[in-house]
Amino acid sequence: MTERTSGIRSVLSVPAAYELLQRALGSPNVRQEYVKQHVRPAEGDRVLDIGCGPGDILAYFPEVTYVGVDPSPAYIASATRRFSGKGMFSVAGVDDLDAKELGEFDLVIAKGVLHHIDDDQATKLFSVAAQVLAPAGRVVTLDPGFAPGQSALSRFMVGQDRGANVRSEQRYVELARACFDNVQSTVHHRLLRIPYTHVILDCAAPKPIDDMPDPVG
Ligand SMILES: C[S@@+](CC[C@H](N)C(=O)[O-])C[C@H]1O[C@@H](n2cnc3c(N)ncnc32)[C@H](O)[C@@H]1O
Repeated sequence: MTERTSGIRSVLSVPAAYELLQRALGSPNVRQEYVKQHVRPAEGDRVLDIGCGPGDILAYFPEVTYVGVDPSPAYIASATRRFSGKGMFSVAGVDDLDAKELGEFDLVIAKGVLHHIDDDQATKLFSVAAQVLAPAGRVVTLDPGFAPGQSALSRFMVGQDRGANVRSEQRYVELARACFDNVQSTVHHRLLRIPYTHVILDCAAPKPIDDMPDPVG
């Protein structure tokens, strides 16, 4: 994982501290917008959440079949303790995922993950997601990003993120387009209580596996 973890940022690997900061900044609003307006889950959907963290997104979903994976044992322990009746959780990062073992999903989500991983890992994430999607399935991601129309303060705040791979909207789209024919991006500047820019990707129509770049897996 590519992450800046020195100083105050190290506290955020503790699930309770992470959730406290998220609430203070207004993260419930981000989750609400992301799930209701962009992910749009339907009851009974099969959902794969890559980089699920402590699993808080589940509170915004209807009854779905949910599989959450994250490389952090502490986050997975927290998610399992709080949401075991609503989903299945396991310790795994993008590099550990094997599309052939995962099954089929109507939705693949990765909220706040792309900016923590490098380009090869992002390509692996999109290629695995493309391979496990049901025919009408979609992949929906959300990350901090740099985008036209962004204020200087938002640009500064986004640059302070723990993730070492915050990208431009255009670069996030390029990475997704390597694996999907249909990629729509949306930029939000005011979902948090502070000036901050989020880039949401909605990806459909996976390319044939032979047309995807390496590494695939
Ligand atoms: C900002 S948190 C987001 C957590 C959760 N999706 C949420 O929205 O609350 C970023 C997450 O990405 C996970 N992550 C970092 N590197 C990863 C990797 N290589 N593969 C999968 N997840 C990763 C971290 O463990 C962390 O849980």
